[in-house]
Order: sequence, then C-alpha cells, then structure tokens
Amino acid sequence: MSIRTVNTQPFNDQKPGTSGLRKAVTVFQQPHYLENFTQSIFNSLEDLQGKTLVLGGDGRYYNRQAIQTILKMAAANSVGRILVGLKGILSTPAASAIIRKNQAYGGIILSASHNPGGINGDFGIKYNISNGGPAPEKVTEAIFAHTKTITQYQILESADINLDHVGSFKLGTMDIEVIDSVIPYLELMESLFDFNLIRNLLSKGDFSICIDSLHAVTGPYAKAIFEGKLGAKTGTVINEVPLEDFGGGHPDPNLVYAKSLVDILFADNAPDFGAASDGDGDRNMILGRNFFVNPSDSLAVITANAHLVKGYKNGLTGVARSMPTSGAVDRVAEKLGINFFETPTGWKFFGNLLDADQATICGEESFGTSSNHIREKDGLWAVLFWLNIVAVRGESVEQIVKSHWQEYGRNFYSRHDYEEVATEGANELVNHIRSQFDTLKGKQFGNYTVNYVDDFSYTDPIDGSVTTNQGIRIIFTDKSRIIFRLSGTGTKGATLRVYLESYEPDVTKQDLDTQKALKELINIAEEIAQIKKFTNREIPTVIT
Ligand code: G1P
Ligand code: ZN
Repeated sequence: MSIRTVNTQPFNDQKPGTSGLRKAVTVFQQPHYLENFTQSIFNSLEDLQGKTLVLGGDGRYYNRQAIQTILKMAAANSVGRILVGLKGILSTPAASAIIRKNQAYGGIILSASHNPGGINGDFGIKYNISNGGPAPEKVTEAIFAHTKTITQYQILESADINLDHVGSFKLGTMDIEVIDSVIPYLELMESLFDFNLIRNLLSKGDFSICIDSLHAVTGPYAKAIFEGKLGAKTGTVINEVPLEDFGGGHPDPNLVYAKSLVDILFADNAPDFGAASDGDGDRNMILGRNFFVNPSDSLAVITANAHLVKGYKNGLTGVARSMPTSGAVDRVAEKLGINFFETPTGWKFFGNLLDADQATICGEESFGTSSNHIREKDGLWAVLFWLNIVAVRGESVEQIVKSHWQEYGRNFYSRHDYEEVATEGANELVNHIRSQFDTLKGKQFGNYTVNYVDDFSYTDPIDGSVTTNQGIRIIFTDKSRIIFRLSGTGTKGATLRVYLESYEPDVTKQDLDTQKALKELINIAEEIAQIKKFTNREIPTVIT
C-alpha cells in the first residue's frame, strides 16, 4: 500500500457555517472537494500523528463513500487509530459520547443534520475536538484558512474497508475499530435517568408513547432503548429504519416536517407522549396528547425539574441558552439561584461553559437541548428527561407545562422561517433594518415601545473570544423581543429567521393561541423589516 500525494487547487466556498461545512451532495461529489476539506482539517491539527479519531455520520447518501475516503486519508496522514461507527453510522450525540469515553483526540462527523438527504439533498462534514464538542471558531477559522491555500493532499491507495461488522482492521499503519455505538450510548442514558421508573410507566400499558425517527439515525438507538430496554410495545418507534434519503422526507422534527407524528398526537385517542428526532439525532420535538411543547419551554421545564432526575438531583451549576431562545429558562435560573448565560446561535458556544462547569444544561429554540454528559445536543436525552419527569410527577405533558406557566408566567414564543429566499433580498432586508438603528430607539408601535436595538455580540467568559453580528435584536420596554437572523446552515439562497417573544404572567390569558398572542409583534416585524417586499414571500415557510 502506498501513499499517493495528489495535487489540488483551493475551492473558495469551504467556510464552515453554524455547524460545519454543509453543501449539496453534488458539490461534495466534485473531484477533490471532500479531500481538500479533510486535508485542511488534518493540516490544522498540528500534533495529529499517532492520535485516535472518531468517525461516523447520520447515514445519509454519500456517508459511506466519504468515510472510505477519510479513512484512507487519515491513514496517509499518520493518524494512529480510528473508531468508526458500524455501517458508518454514529448519531451526533453518540459521536460526542464516544470521543469523550475513549479520550480521543477529536472526531469527524458527517451530517447535514436536519437538511434533506439523498442524491439531490445535502451533505456535511464537521470536526469535533477532544471534549466531544464542535470545534470552536478559532479551530474552524484555521481549517478555513488551510482550505484557501491547499495545494495537495495525501491518500493511501487501498481497497475499501468492510464497515458492516464490528471488528478491528489495519489500514497501512493505522488501526481501525468498527464499533456499535448503541450500547455505550444506552449505558450513558441509563446512568442519568431512572430506567426502572420509566419502564414502569411504559410497560403498564396506560401510558403510551410514539417515537418518530423520521428514517434517520436515531432508529436503532430508539428501538434498543424504548422497545428493548424500557418495555414499550413493539411498534412504538416508527420510521425506524435509517435510509440514505430519509424516505424522501425532511428530517427536521418540527410541526411542518414531522407532520405525520403531529397528526398522530392530535388525533382522537392519541398516545400520551410523542417525540421526533432529526437527521443526526441531536434535535428533539416533544409532544403531549394534543399538545405541542415549544422547545424554549422544554428547556425551562427540564431545568426546573432537574432535581427530580437521578443524574441531576445534586443540582445544576448553571444554564445557558442561545440568544434567540425565549427567556423562559432565565426565570428558572433566577429562582434556582444558578448561573445563567446567553450565547450566540450554535452549540459550539456552549462547550467552554460546560468544560468549565459553569453550566450543566444548555438549550436552543431550534429543538436542541442537552447537558454536560456530552458536548453536543442530544435528542433522545431530552425525550428520556421528559419521560423521567412524567414518571416522577404522574402528570400529563400538558399539565406539567401549564403548571410551569402558572408558576413562572408564559413566554409566548414563535419562530418564522423564510427558507431559500434570494440572498440579495435577504441582505437588503438586513441592511434596511440596520439603517433604522438610530431612529428606532424610543419609537412607539401600538402597545410596544422600542427600548433598544443592537447587533448581538458575545464575549466568551472563559477564553475572552469575541463573536459579533449574531442577530439583530429589537427589544421593547416590557422585554418583548423581535430578532432577525440569517441562517448559517442553509445551502440554497438565504433563510431568514424571525424570532418573536412576549411575556404573559396572567394565568387567565395564557391559553391564547401563540400566533394570536404575538399578532401585534408579527405586524411590527413586517413594518420594520418589510419582509414581504424583500423576500418576495407572503407567508413563512415554517412557523414554530
Ligand atoms: C440552526 C439553528 C441553530 C442550531 C443549528 C445546528 O442554525 O438555528 O440553533 O444550532 O441549526 O443544528 P441556523 O440555520 O439558524 O444558523
Ligand atoms: Zn442535527
């Protein structure tokens, strides 16, 4: 087996976004495209020689081909050992857990998360560091810098490795271990949650659940945990077979793309509990019978009830949420007297806080929650957390959320996404809002008066790094907010996200429909940003 050095030229579009490099499969299939980015990762890791890496992906189209290429390149770049998921599959949370458990140097995760898959879908690659979390900006910047100057890459000439069985192989001087991550992931969950209690809840037959894996990566994990270990009846996990194109669906667990689960939970005789995960298993949507749990509320409820759960009963050091996530959890942190942090969008900003034990639980409005057990968000972790809370409290999901609102008040919250709009129009919209920064302050819109407007920036309290331009905030005097951001994960045109939030302490007014409660703010957002004009759209693509 010989190492081949291949001459190449830089691609000018390999800047990692909110979560790694995400592009259409056809972009990744261009000669040298994946290789350039992979070599740039290796080039940015100075002391890689002899180290252990973890490698796997969400099973989408191109996962297997990419893994074979990366294995051969790793061998040619003197990596010592690679732990690779069986059939090339590792959910993102499992990858994080495996990196930590094996004290690996880092990991390469192949996923485009909630973006559609298949030959006409998206693919993605991201690097995680030794804490198991997404590389912080200084690392992704270094990788990006290498992509701009790369002239050659190294690859071992060899046959493909068989990934269909657990086992050990040699590739050149590099050791390869094909591992099944379901068992270690299940064991980690068992160490955090009271499985006996949950088994009691699920196996008695009077509490039924439905878990939708959307033909994505969580199927095997969910089957083993809910049907295997926790005694839920066969068929509890639906769409459980991971498919390269997710069965043609959009593996994003929200009210639009997981509509078939929503229909099940809102039907007569619906199950008591429903949940869905995304392509790579780090997101979750929680539903009760005829009841949707807003992800921002889910984070608040999880935090407020953490003392009931085995792995967290000794208390939390703090909680962190991304800036656009609602302020519901802020009130819980205040009551508990624990640290509270507001970070930019993207899980990579939580890593330092978790490593420094300043925060125990983190969450984002985009259906992501997790804790210090790993350094990624974790969809099934959130599902188990909810089931554990339900099992202890003996109340329905709806009762638990409503009593939370009663105690803390309700943060009405919604996100409106305008997907795949023209990039030019989206940039003009942002500039249009920015041009009003000076005049908006103090301006009155009906019942709302603007307190201040800014571009969110964040100084990491642990390493002092500064991140700017993380979303435009329009904050009103009663703390209601409208936030505008452009997505950093989309691959076609631009996606505008408008986040809307108001607060209602009065219990008698908390049952209002969310969109009705936010109507005035929705109109103000249109007045300020001229969304219809700049996006050329009458309504959002997705409303959460
Ligand atoms: C989106 C979410 C963000 C999440 C990211 C990766 O990023 O909004 O919270 O961390 O996906 O799952 P965005 O497309 O908004 O940049
Ligand atoms: Zn994801």
